[in-house]
Amino acid sequence: MREPEAFASEQAALGQVWTLLGLTTDIPNDNDWIRCSLGGGSVFVQRFGASIKGFENVCRHRFHPIRTAAKGSDLVRCAFHHWVYNQEGEAVGIPQCKKLFGRSPKELGARLRNVEIACCGVLIFGRFAHQVSMRTDSTAGEATSSEWTTADPSTTNQDKSLEEFLGDGWPILRAMCREGIRPGYSSTVVQANWKLLVEITLEEYHAFAVHPTSFGKGGWLDPDEAYYPRFDPHSAFFYGGQQGDLSSMTADCQAGNYQPEEYRILNIFPNFLVNHNLALHAWYVTITQSVPIDHHSTTVRSWFFQAPFKRPQASWFRLQVEQFINLWLPFFVGIFNRKITHEDHVICEAMQVPASSINESPILGREENRIAWFREAYWKALAQSSR
Ligand code: FES
Ligand SMILES: [Fe+2]
Repeated sequence: MREPEAFASEQAALGQVWTLLGLTTDIPNDNDWIRCSLGGGSVFVQRFGASIKGFENVCRHRFHPIRTAAKGSDLVRCAFHHWVYNQEGEAVGIPQCKKLFGRSPKELGARLRNVEIACCGVLIFGRFAHQVSMRTDSTAGEATSSEWTTADPSTTNQDKSLEEFLGDGWPILRAMCREGIRPGYSSTVVQANWKLLVEITLEEYHAFAVHPTSFGKGGWLDPDEAYYPRFDPHSAFFYGGQQGDLSSMTADCQAGNYQPEEYRILNIFPNFLVNHNLALHAWYVTITQSVPIDHHSTTVRSWFFQAPFKRPQASWFRLQVEQFINLWLPFFVGIFNRKITHEDHVICEAMQVPASSINESPILGREENRIAWFREAYWKALAQSSR
């Protein structure tokens, strides 16, 4: 299979896996929407009062995109012939419907393809229903996207709710990314396949070589201080101090008394990570996602904000100083994050050049085991979708 085709089928399969689409802070008000990617195509997520819905970004009439900008706030109305859809994705307003189509909008029954949505804290996830076959339209003789049928969920990952999919990571992500945060955001396009960008976040071995001035001790990490919890298909990296295991972090987050003591990363399959790291006196949370554009380019999106964990008691004076520093801190945290990610991106862009001609397996050391775990999860997700 050629690379573009392999990419398309990979993305179609991963579109059925719970995928981060955006943050609820991106759509705070009624009718706010964002455009995002899922399964290799464009989708959009919109707020309708208290509920959040997602749809494929393709009008059912003649397939014009419903959303032609990255974000906005208005009704679901296609610009081409002004078909209007309700929050169920049904075409309810069709100009001259009876005259031109011989039926009412309800009788016509056109609807947008639905994206299943679930949230964990401010994180909005989406996935498409499992596609196994298409019925053909009896009059036109063509398959239509509204007529996908769904597989028996008991045989696939599709029966897992978002909470089940995230497993022990669910209470942690909910605590780290809870409502009330106000994140900074940046995005950049990297000329590399999204898996290279994910894999570089799954190992620390490169830190001394690629980030020698960005981390303490020249980027050297003691492998004996590293701990790698696996909660399939996801994994984590804990370093130094009282390591604890994932279940104790989960229990502390659930009880609302988790206090970060050292750097930690949770890598959530397929394509994002959440970490907490210390910036002066304050713990910051960073979310980084590698969103595939095509087989050799990726948009890397990142959000960062002060960690919403309960703080230990501090003196009045100390709080005043911290408050002053907090005004400037996001600026410096943003610069630091961009420096580190740029250093990674240079490596990934160089690796993209020979990537298509490499067929062997890599030689993975003790600090790189999580790459093998990611690859296992990846092939499993692809196999499940083809059942
Ligand atoms: S293509 Fe959307 S209304 Fe015609
Ligand atoms: Fe790195």
